[in-house]
Parts: sequence; C-alpha cells; structure tokens
Amino acid sequence: LAKIEIKLSSIPEGKSVTFKWRGKPLFIRHRTASEIAAEQAVAVASLRDPQHDNERVQNPEWLVVLGVCTHLGCVPIANAGDFGGYYCPCHGSHYDASGRIRKGPAPLNLEVPAYVFPEEDLLIVG
Ligand code: FES
Repeated sequence: LAKIEIKLSSIPEGKSVTFKWRGKPLFIRHRTASEIAAEQAVAVASLRDPQHDNERVQNPEWLVVLGVCTHLGCVPIANAGDFGGYYCPCHGSHYDASGRIRKGPAPLNLEVPAYVFPEEDLLIVG
C-alpha cells in the first residue's frame, strides 16, 4: 500500500498543511504550545466521540488526520470554526485541534491513519 513521506521542517508551527494520500486529503498540523495545552485539557466525558488528545497523537506537536469530514465526506477548512481546528462548510461541523468533533452533525472524530516518525524530521503515513 502506498506510503507518503513528509519532511516535518517544511511545516511551520501553527500551520496545517494538506497532502494527498491514497486519493484523500491528509492534514498534518504543527500544533503550537497553546493548542497542545488546550487540547490536553479538554474534558473527555464532554465529547461526542470521547478520546483524549493522547490517544490521537504520538507526538503532541503533530496532528495527523484524514481531511474527510465524518458526516458526508467534505473536506474541512483548517484554522476555522469555533474550536480552533477545522470547520466543514458543507453542513457546519466544527472540529478541534485534535481533530475531534465538537459541534455540528458529524458523528465521529477525524480519522487518524497509521503513521511513524522513523527519524528526526521525518513522518511516514501508511
Ligand atoms: Fe461535513 Fe456534512 S459533510 S458537515
């Protein structure tokens, strides 16, 4: 199966960059310290699809998710919406900077694909 290699130093802190992987958008987000702190502090029990941030990231600086809204599959917009993560304009789903659904019709968090950090500065998804 196809893998994609991403050089992490190409993604500045605070940015979410979209790649194409297996025909789907893939979001790689270089989270800021304040984003990390905010996502770590969210009360899991309050979530529709309850997952702690630690269950969704291997390294808190890097969020790796599919850019496919879990409602009907539109591509969410980065750094938009009420929770500082992603906003799906199709029917108004708001995701946080951990890719978790926080408001709107989507039932589930954005999917986290399999990935590894084989060396400093390198991410391989797939
Ligand atoms: Fe994203 Fe409906 S497809 S809100």
